[in-house]
Amino acid sequence: MSKSEGNKRTCLNPVAKVLVSCRGLNGENNALAVGYCGNCSYDPPMVMVGIVPSRYSYHLIKESGCFVVNLVDKAYQETFNYLGSHSKRDEDKLAVMKVNLAEAKFVNAPILADCPVNIECKIVDSIVTGSHEMFIGKVEYVHADAKMISDKGDIDFSQINFL
Ligand SMILES: Cc1cc2nc3c(=O)[nH]c(=O)nc-3n(C[C@H](O)[C@H](O)[C@H](O)COP(=O)(O)O)c2cc1C
Repeated sequence: MSKSEGNKRTCLNPVAKVLVSCRGLNGENNALAVGYCGNCSYDPPMVMVGIVPSRYSYHLIKESGCFVVNLVDKAYQETFNYLGSHSKRDEDKLAVMKVNLAEAKFVNAPILADCPVNIECKIVDSIVTGSHEMFIGKVEYVHADAKMISDKGDIDFSQINFL
């Protein structure tokens, strides 16, 4: 196989595409599309999300110390695109898209009720890597559609039609 140099910035693919929801200390809710995310510890369970400081959500996440990672099904594509291309700085985009919110159990951030899996995280550390600040979140609770969960609590991800 003959090879040439590829683009360094987009070399790791495929990547998960998630919606990260958050709440400021004044109670305002928001969510943004995130592609910089991944597992970063099995024990204790931790995930990380990379947020650019210019995002409106950045300050909400920073001040509250928590966030929710919401896995997204293709049925939610339009909402994903909207939340990933509009800022709370300009409009209440959750209201515009009529996003259904529910309360988290252990963190002060909303969960996106129409997403099949919602991962509640408390920030335990963060690393400024360059363009992004990677927030390391200890997983406090995982919500999943009841029809996707086995008796042991395992999630059947084959039921999600990922973006
Ligand atoms: C596919 C996709 C992936 C994105 N990944 C990230 C990301 O990893 N980190 C980030 O800060 N912004 C990312 N964005 C951009 C934000 O979602 C976007 O700037 C959003 O409008 C910010 O909203 P806010 O200003 O209300 O926080 C992504 C957007 C898209 C469409």
